[in-house]
Amino acid sequence: MLDKPEDKYISILTGDYCRLDDRFTLTGKTIELDLGCGKGSFSTRLAERCPERLIFAADVMIGRLRKLQKRNARAGIANVRPLRVEAAQLVAMIPDRTLTRLHILCPDPWPKERHRAHRLLSSEFVGQLHRVLKPGGHFHFSTDDPAYYEAVRRIVSGSGLFRKQSKLPAELAAISSDFELRWNEQGKTVRHLLWAAR
Ligand SMILES: C[S@@+](CC[C@H](N)C(=O)[O-])C[C@H]1O[C@@H](n2cnc3c(N)ncnc32)[C@H](O)[C@@H]1O
Repeated sequence: MLDKPEDKYISILTGDYCRLDDRFTLTGKTIELDLGCGKGSFSTRLAERCPERLIFAADVMIGRLRKLQKRNARAGIANVRPLRVEAAQLVAMIPDRTLTRLHILCPDPWPKERHRAHRLLSSEFVGQLHRVLKPGGHFHFSTDDPAYYEAVRRIVSGSGLFRKQSKLPAELAAISSDFELRWNEQGKTVRHLLWAAR
């Protein structure tokens, strides 16, 4: 039920949309996507640091998007667009070569072997991520799970579609997502990977 005041700022996207040219390419702005943004502190802080950019923050959980929208409204941050949508569906809707940066931060690692299929990152999906990034655009991934880190590193490198970058730009290194902060508080290390689309 969409009955909260902040709901009018959250776009609910369904399979009825096949392309999002109006929202993405026609803005004339540099666009970043925080996929699986959760409560979205990362998007908020990125938007503060890069006010000229448009940040799309996407998640399936409406409650988390409401928190994000409320926080941004309170802080007067106007360059974040919350999208309630499933990640693969959203990426399928985005036109080719649209995004300057795409972030997937601390996605659920699904560590049990029988649950691996639920992981967001697969070879096929990496091809889709490459399609929506501009040439030279960045794909930024983080996780606290060593096995997921290694699997994603191998999938992306093996795709031949990306060039690994040696370090994060300062404005990204300075921001931790909600889950990164949570894992750090528990003494876990979150590692980041950054690639540029070929
Ligand atoms: C562990 S949280 C990380 C949130 C945030 N990126 C952070 O680092 O704080 C994973 C988020 O991904 C969202 N998520 C999981 N699978 C998704 C999917 N297929 N499409 C969109 N969001 C998804 C969950 O709802 C959750 O908010």
